[in-house]
Amino acid sequence: MAAISNDINQAICAYVNRRGQVIRVGVGTPRQTQIPALELPRYGAERLCGIRCITTKLKPEAPKESSLTAMVLQRLDALVVLILTGEGKMRRGGGATGYIKESYIAHLLPASDLNPNQQYYWTVSPPMSLETLTEQDFLNLVEGLEAEFRREYVAQQVDSEHERVIVVGLQIQSVSDRQFEEGLTEVRRLVETAGGEVLETLRQKRPSPHPQTVVGSGKVEDIALRVQTLGANLVVFDRDLFPAQVRNLETQLGVRVVDRTEIILDIFAQRAQSRAGKLQVELAQLEYMLPRLIGRGQAMSRLGGGIGTRGPGETKLETERRAIGRRISRLQQEVNQLQAHRSRLRNQRQQQEVPTVAMVGYTNAGKSTLINALTKAEVYTADQLFATLDPTTRRLQLVNPVTSQSTTILLTDTVGFIHELPPSLMDAFRATLEEVTEADALLHVVDLSHQAWEHQIESVINILEEMSLTPELVLLAFNKIDHVDGVTLERAKVKYPQAVFISAQEGFGLETLQQKLGQLVQLISRDDHWQTIKPIRVRMIR
Ligand code: GTP
Repeated sequence: MAAISNDINQAICAYVNRRGQVIRVGVGTPRQTQIPALELPRYGAERLCGIRCITTKLKPEAPKESSLTAMVLQRLDALVVLILTGEGKMRRGGGATGYIKESYIAHLLPASDLNPNQQYYWTVSPPMSLETLTEQDFLNLVEGLEAEFRREYVAQQVDSEHERVIVVGLQIQSVSDRQFEEGLTEVRRLVETAGGEVLETLRQKRPSPHPQTVVGSGKVEDIALRVQTLGANLVVFDRDLFPAQVRNLETQLGVRVVDRTEIILDIFAQRAQSRAGKLQVELAQLEYMLPRLIGRGQAMSRLGGGIGTRGPGETKLETERRAIGRRISRLQQEVNQLQAHRSRLRNQRQQQEVPTVAMVGYTNAGKSTLINALTKAEVYTADQLFATLDPTTRRLQLVNPVTSQSTTILLTDTVGFIHELPPSLMDAFRATLEEVTEADALLHVVDLSHQAWEHQIESVINILEEMSLTPELVLLAFNKIDHVDGVTLERAKVKYPQAVFISAQEGFGLETLQQKLGQLVQLISRDDHWQTIKPIRVRMIR
């Protein structure tokens, strides 16, 4: 091996497969000559990669942590370090050969053999002579280890029906610590809603994202090690990634990498019930996926399915880009038809002169619970993000407590909003969101028990603005007051004196809400019989 380098001080790494064939030789340390995860013949927590690395070294010392880390990242069968004497015959041209003084063998350890203080699972033999090294039964060692890894892997899979996820957050300069942590908490909830189990959250601060890998190279290695140590099969970033970044990260980490938008799309794909909902999700998924398909097919087939691959997109991955393009235009036509159909329905409603109020709010604010409480509708509610996808419209009778006269309004529950709602989703859901644009007034439901309630109000307002919506009449309803401390309640009351404070679940404040809705109707239709109640000033967004 030394013959490959003219300088004996330089380490040489030979990578040998189980048949004893040398498949790659490189000048440099195991870390410098490392084979990316996706270029290895096989990869996964249940096995070793089928390759051992034999490396040379002049200093008589055990392998360094960086070499052992490289072994873990590649899941090498073993790492053999040969310590050279540094003396020997000189070759023609000046290269020295050197004798082998002693050697070390290192290999991975199954988690069950792990000592609690050990961060990464490996073991290194004491120094041994070349004779002792050649007497080692490598195949036997590898087979024994793989059997143990497989047992642990199967136990892990049986133990958890969920995908095992590592969440990675990048905090750039312009984002405060609080905003960053709130964003990470939301991503973790999104992962759980999509059916994943968050094993760990890793963070990095950088002035701006790394163009190739989002986080720096040291952090990528850190993530790869945690993936290995925890047996994760998915890495989720708290931001949107460029297609090339996803490919680079997947190559280095050896597991699938998805971004925030993909998680949201996956949740939508799981939730869509109606034909219209499915159509809109499929369109959004395909539009998002199209630029990301190049060069990803092979990697995807190695990395498997799960979060981000569900829904109609799954079967499309290997399909030609052009075929996907055709499907997108067909879906767009169907969404246009859907839009026209909804618009006709709305026209009919407007002709009946029934005022419509659309409920908007951040996901999980309690909109569906509220429409159920007010109208006895049976809208699906759950402590999950985006439980409702399809808009539901219900009639609501409002009775004036003074005159006892009643008025009917139409109340529509819409899809929940989220901070930085992916634009492709907003576009695809335009048919649904138009329920909001065409409503006479909006009822903005806020989860006051959420620590980021103020930020959520802003996000909803921003999205409405992006939809070019300038609603004149917006009634703010602070929900979940049964779950809120006195200080927060007081603060919200001072900041938003015209708002209503309710608990949709416990039925608190619903009468006041109905009265204020009645006053809203009066403002819409100048319906006289509400004038006996002191009119409210509703919050104007603009
Ligand atoms: P999306 O479909 O994501 O937009 O959610 P949503 O706004 O329709 O929320 P949903 O009605 O599904 O409620 C979300 C969770 O909040 C559920 O677990 C409800 O039980 C809970 N919830 C709703 N109203 C209240 C309330 O007044 N108090 C408390 N403590 N929980 C509530």
